[in-house]
Amino acid sequence: MKKTILQEKNKMSEKKITIQNIQQAKKDNKKIIMVTAYDYPFGLMADQAGVDIVLVGDSLGMVVMGLDGTVGVTMDNMIHHIKAVVRGCKKAMIVGDMPFMSYNTSIREAIINAGRLMKEGGCDVVKLEGGIDFAPTVEAIVKAGIPVQGHVGLTPQTASALGGFKIQGKNTQAAKRIIDDAKALEHAGAFSIIVEAVPAPLGEIIAQTVRIPVIGIGAGSQVDGQVLVTHDMVGLFDKFVPRFVKQYAQIRPIIIDALKAFKEEVSTQSFPASEHSFSMPDNTLEELKKSKRFSSLIKTEDK
Ligand code: KIV
Repeated sequence: MKKTILQEKNKMSEKKITIQNIQQAKKDNKKIIMVTAYDYPFGLMADQAGVDIVLVGDSLGMVVMGLDGTVGVTMDNMIHHIKAVVRGCKKAMIVGDMPFMSYNTSIREAIINAGRLMKEGGCDVVKLEGGIDFAPTVEAIVKAGIPVQGHVGLTPQTASALGGFKIQGKNTQAAKRIIDDAKALEHAGAFSIIVEAVPAPLGEIIAQTVRIPVIGIGAGSQVDGQVLVTHDMVGLFDKFVPRFVKQYAQIRPIIIDALKAFKEEVSTQSFPASEHSFSMPDNTLEELKKSKRFSSLIKTEDK
């Protein structure tokens, strides 16, 4: 049977977003939308919301695992969470973050671990933090057939070496270094770059300097796309809210209210009500009541 135009369109819209789509978006001046997810429900919701890229970020260490930073996140943690997100996302491109020390010790180790994120986790591409110093690593991973997204500016895995979670590139030398980092990643074959916590004019210069898409988080509006940590954006993470985050919802109080209501209703026995309970055929109940084994346990009106 011949397909209608709408069915054809729907089929097309179900197609997975590719690197080519992301790079074309920059050429077409269309903003790229990226958010984080760490499990099946959030992967599904991000996909349903129509975002282009879902990042399974090592920020999961902080917003899901309750760690103080991202350094403690392991390869096994990442694979576990990537797998869950992959089950929820049909269309969005999935980026798997390479955790601290999974790519820092040797290029061989980096290729093996990038391969594990793809083969065992199922992500489409990997992301790693670092500029010029990691360009050879990026080049080797790309040559092994694994697409890489770079990450420069504030790099949370090495935040202590950078003096904390601070804005980067504020003086000329530091700004030039970040531009050079971005250029080195482009030359190494990265398909896109995240730029985190830099002054807005620097974000714009970087996006104009490299041809690959530059996705900003705290890098101003004149970059090629924006990424936020979903748990920050919907008010699920309680410890701090970085200045560059806009909270589009406040989910925590809604969840806490629901949990309190459950507590209250169970305590006062208004939950479960009859509509949440299952009945049993009368004759089965009668027989149970008659049986010696259970009769003492069953409350009856005539007892
Ligand atoms: O891990 C993460 O969520 C990230 C974003 C901050 C870009 O790297």
